[in-house]
Amino acid sequence: MTRRPWRAPDGPAAPSVTGMRVLVTGGAGFIGSQIVETLLAGGHEPVVLDALLPSAHPEPPRKPPATRAAVPRIVADVRDRAAVDAALRGVHAVCHQAAMVGLGKDFADAPDYVGCNDLGTAVLLAAMAAAGVPGLVLAGSMVVYGEGRYDCPAHGTVRPGPRAETALAAGRFEPRCPRCGAELRPGLVGEDAPTDPRNVYAATKLAQEHLAASWARATGGRVLALRYHNVYGPGMPRDTPYAGVASFFRSALARGEAPTLYEDGGQRRDFIHVRDVAAANAVALAALPDRPAGTLTAYNTGSGEPHTVGEMARTLATAYGGPPPVVTGEYRLGDVRHITASSQRIAADLGWRAATGFADGMAEFAREEMR
Ligand SMILES: NC(=O)c1ccc[n+]([C@@H]2O[C@H](COP(=O)([O-])OP(=O)(O)OC[C@H]3O[C@@H](n4cnc5c(N)ncnc54)[C@H](O)[C@@H]3O)[C@@H](O)[C@H]2O)c1
Ligand SMILES: [Zn+2]
Repeated sequence: MTRRPWRAPDGPAAPSVTGMRVLVTGGAGFIGSQIVETLLAGGHEPVVLDALLPSAHPEPPRKPPATRAAVPRIVADVRDRAAVDAALRGVHAVCHQAAMVGLGKDFADAPDYVGCNDLGTAVLLAAMAAAGVPGLVLAGSMVVYGEGRYDCPAHGTVRPGPRAETALAAGRFEPRCPRCGAELRPGLVGEDAPTDPRNVYAATKLAQEHLAASWARATGGRVLALRYHNVYGPGMPRDTPYAGVASFFRSALARGEAPTLYEDGGQRRDFIHVRDVAAANAVALAALPDRPAGTLTAYNTGSGEPHTVGEMARTLATAYGGPPPVVTGEYRLGDVRHITASSQRIAADLGWRAATGFADGMAEFAREEMR
């Protein structure tokens, strides 16, 4: 395939799909650092900008591998316009991973989420517009959909609202048909499904997409938003309120305790390995020059293989040789019951699909803790 040259505003044309200079915001984080590795392996030139948020980088900080020693690393906030301007010099495209992640502790966190994720994105995009950087790959999230897709035997595809606290407290975790109250069958959400963010973090992730789409229209830029599912794998944050569920389970197993399941463990998710997510970013960066100017396209980025949280806990416990998970019946109001999406579009358009299977990926993840 031939590609049009992808010219940095003040630099040479990127000769092909290798040799791109890419600013990776949040490049010291779990996913960002894996993207840096993948870009290096692909012959690209990553530059990292990361504020090293204490919530994401508990002491002592993890030592980056030797391969990353030569990667320029700017410790700054994406809201710091001067730092972002400097980081963008000679850059062909931006891979925007910096964000505050997770559900947060309570609503008091809202200004921090909005500041980091949305004001931060706006500052970055304004700097890209000024510097003439034409392409962006955005770390999106499946949280923009709210609940997944559900089908009622009588009413077809329906959209249940947020679950009532009384239902959750009574142990009724499955959303019901809003029209007839029947049990629903969960399905796979496509990218054109309506968005319905259910918490502050989700609202900020959706706003990032809207801001990026506005930037693309205003500047003729190109954006690919990768809506990641539940990412796990080496380097996953642990023991912070923002860590993902796989990390909590593994930490419990390391303490000799059983993983504890919220609700009844029947929540369906799509667990995607961080190496696969990094590969999707590399593929998306390479595809940017071929996209129509002025557009944002969103892609679900998942394994396409739904599993329940309970299955994941059991698989990890077995791989670890630890006690089986226990159901607590506890719940969190902001949680959704099932969210799994089809990742067909990214496979069809960009040729990317996940390479790491659930059993292999989880076994490797459990072993990482045992080392
Ligand atoms: N981990 C998942 O399962 C998952 C799922 C969907 C989407 N995402 C998205 O992927 C991206 C990366 O997440 P992650 O899991 O690697 O989280 P992470 O916390 O490990 O990494 C995020 C990095 O961004 C940095 N950062 C945060 N705010 C910043 C700011 N204002 N300025 C500069 N740096 C800042 C942090 O210091 C951290 O190093 C995020 O955008 C997140 O929303 C993650
Ligand atoms: Zn119905």
